[in-house]
Amino acid sequence: MRNPIRATLVAVFVLVAALAGCRGGSSGDAPIGGIRNMHDQPRYENQGRSAFFADGRMMRPQVFGAVAREMETDTRIDTGRDEDGTTYLLALPEEIGQRFGGNDAMLLRGEERFNIYCAPCHGRTGDGKGIMVTRGMLAPPSYHQDRLRHMPDGQLYATITNGIRNMPGYYSQIPTDDRWAIVAYVRALQVSQANVPVEAP
Ligand code: HEC
Repeated sequence: MRNPIRATLVAVFVLVAALAGCRGGSSGDAPIGGIRNMHDQPRYENQGRSAFFADGRMMRPQVFGAVAREMETDTRIDTGRDEDGTTYLLALPEEIGQRFGGNDAMLLRGEERFNIYCAPCHGRTGDGKGIMVTRGMLAPPSYHQDRLRHMPDGQLYATITNGIRNMPGYYSQIPTDDRWAIVAYVRALQVSQANVPVEAP
């Protein structure tokens, strides 16, 4: 061809047509790859058979008695209930303050965590008028009512841990000791507002 521009255009057209022709084609073959060792790694499949383990199973059962590394092994501290699980602990376990290196440190930690996790809904003073409420969320109850003032520490802790009705639980988001520190801070808030007239729940 004498015209170089036309020759280029024809070549491009042929190339595009050839590539477009590949679309939609499928192949059962493994993709072509330069370095294959990333594709073919030995691995265990679900429900597969293993020659290594005596029971022949690839999927390993949990070792008896294993607990998650972060799990609280004291059931009172873990659940907020007494040893046989029947009643809520009336008072925060002493170990918690010790773990924080003193009650002051525990309360400061509780204040910080409360303002992060609870104040958006419950308000910084616990009056139930957090910023989420001004944006249309269902208003939580004020902490400064008799029922919540007299609630056992363990029940407050369990409320944070498991959630209640419309409130989500914080078991996986806030570690155990921090949940107790928040309980201590909620108590401090209640004392600080003890002379404020109680609003209807
Ligand atoms: C997303 C908003 C939201 C957040 C965040 C939140 N709460 Fe609540 N909370 C609620 C609502 C709503 C209720 C009322 C639940 C109901 O009765 O349906 C409630 C109820 C409660 C109650 C009263 C339970 C009862 O027996 O009536 C306590 C105590 C409480 N929350 C503590 C906390 C603490 C402590 C935190 C922080 C760890 C927290 N909440 C975080 C929304 C929230």
